[in-house]
Amino acid sequence: QKNVGILAMEIYFPPACMQQASLEAHDGVGKGKYTIGLGQDCMAFCTEVEDVISMSLTAVSSLLEKYGIDPKQIGRLEVGSETVIDKSKSIKTFLMPIFEECGNTDIEGVDSTNACYGGTAALFNCVNWVESSSWDGRYGLVVCTDSAVYAEGAARPTGGAAAIAMLIGPDAPIAFESKFRASYMSHVYDFYKPDLASEYPVVDGKLSQTCYLMALDSCYKIFCDKYGKLEGKQFSMANAEYFVFHSPYNKLVQKSFARLMFDDVVRNASSDEVAKEKLGPYTSLSSDESYQNRDLEKAAQQVAKSLYDAKVQPTTLIPKQVGNMYTASLYAAFASLIHNKHSTLTGNRVIMFSYGSGSTATMFSFRMREGQHPFTLSNIAKVMNVEEKLKLRQEFPPEQFIEALKLMEHRYGGKDYVTSKDTTLLAPGTYYLTEVDSKYRRFYARK
Ligand code: ACO
Repeated sequence: QKNVGILAMEIYFPPACMQQASLEAHDGVGKGKYTIGLGQDCMAFCTEVEDVISMSLTAVSSLLEKYGIDPKQIGRLEVGSETVIDKSKSIKTFLMPIFEECGNTDIEGVDSTNACYGGTAALFNCVNWVESSSWDGRYGLVVCTDSAVYAEGAARPTGGAAAIAMLIGPDAPIAFESKFRASYMSHVYDFYKPDLASEYPVVDGKLSQTCYLMALDSCYKIFCDKYGKLEGKQFSMANAEYFVFHSPYNKLVQKSFARLMFDDVVRNASSDEVAKEKLGPYTSLSSDESYQNRDLEKAAQQVAKSLYDAKVQPTTLIPKQVGNMYTASLYAAFASLIHNKHSTLTGNRVIMFSYGSGSTATMFSFRMREGQHPFTLSNIAKVMNVEEKLKLRQEFPPEQFIEALKLMEHRYGGKDYVTSKDTTLLAPGTYYLTEVDSKYRRFYARK
């Protein structure tokens, strides 16, 4: 199969949100700590009628309807998520009613889990399937769905929630350059969820930042090596129009792009004279030292600023407005790029970096193409309708966000309750949770 990749996308995020500036005031931290320090504007959160299953039901049914896809045409459905609802029954099975209704139960695939990386694993499974000899000619469908919530403390402002659905097949407007994948996998305790009675992770924030940057360096180096071998020339940042990063918070994305600029100087691949002059003195640092060196970090961010504005800034809208969406974060950043630049992307190369704590990471590459209706970049932008979705949200004060978290802490893993079924905030067509019965069975309805 040729040009296998993403044919269509849909994104859903909860309409309830909270301004980061109001959380700063509530938490009594310095003004600017979350908005400038972390680079975040706003955070979406699930109220008691929404969860990762309702969000993914909404994203999947909306994608099928808006692109006119018959559910019988789906041959593989893969879900990436790190939000545990059930230790055995996959989220994928909760989505099956959409397909069973049309008589389609012949659908491969289950869930993939490893922190924020599960969505990428699910995507690769679908792409590999379409490229393989077991492909039966139907579409693959990938769903990334998560609700990111943290215990009170420094990590709480880096929450968020969303679901993204992506249709996979040949002749895609977003085509994989499959030869250039580069991964880095290791055993670390930077962020993990060992307490099965709680939705909150155990997180070593500082360690997770360093692990992320180490994985980035390693993936970039291997990516460049593979590119060099296959293309017979050296790869540098100049060889891609856009860079999309897993986005727990925007400051880390700024630091990551700056790090790639430093990596180009270290590899002697940079043709940027200012970068070479300003970052050259740091190339003698050991790699361990280089992660801790604040002067290098600041110098690299400064040198990278104008390139960041061109190659990264267009990818930051949704992650800054919605927050960390775990498995959906990277793809929400990519959706921001399509939203902002769909009319000029054809022919461009887009580099993607996926990171999941624990840790697992892959860098890969898309080549953007014209596509054919309904699978065109401009139609994807139209269907996702990001601006409208952001505009229709309702802001809540921190007190109500905290109240929502408390209720969900209480209900997590619980049974025998009905929700308020309050759908005032929800757009028509949105799924919501109505009840968890005495046998822990979950029930959903659609507005
Ligand atoms: N105005 C402007 N900036 C400020 C202010 C202020 N009033 N106060 C602090 N800052 C800046 C700091 O200088 C720092 O910026 P810098 O990194 O450029 O120096 C930044 O705000 C963050 O402040 P810190 O004190 O360094 O960190 P904090 O204790 O707030 O924790 C952290 C931040 C570690 C990201 C925390 O939110 C966390 O643990 N989040 C979850 C883990 C995470 O997302 N890891 C990323 C990869 S793994 C994953 O995706 C889950």
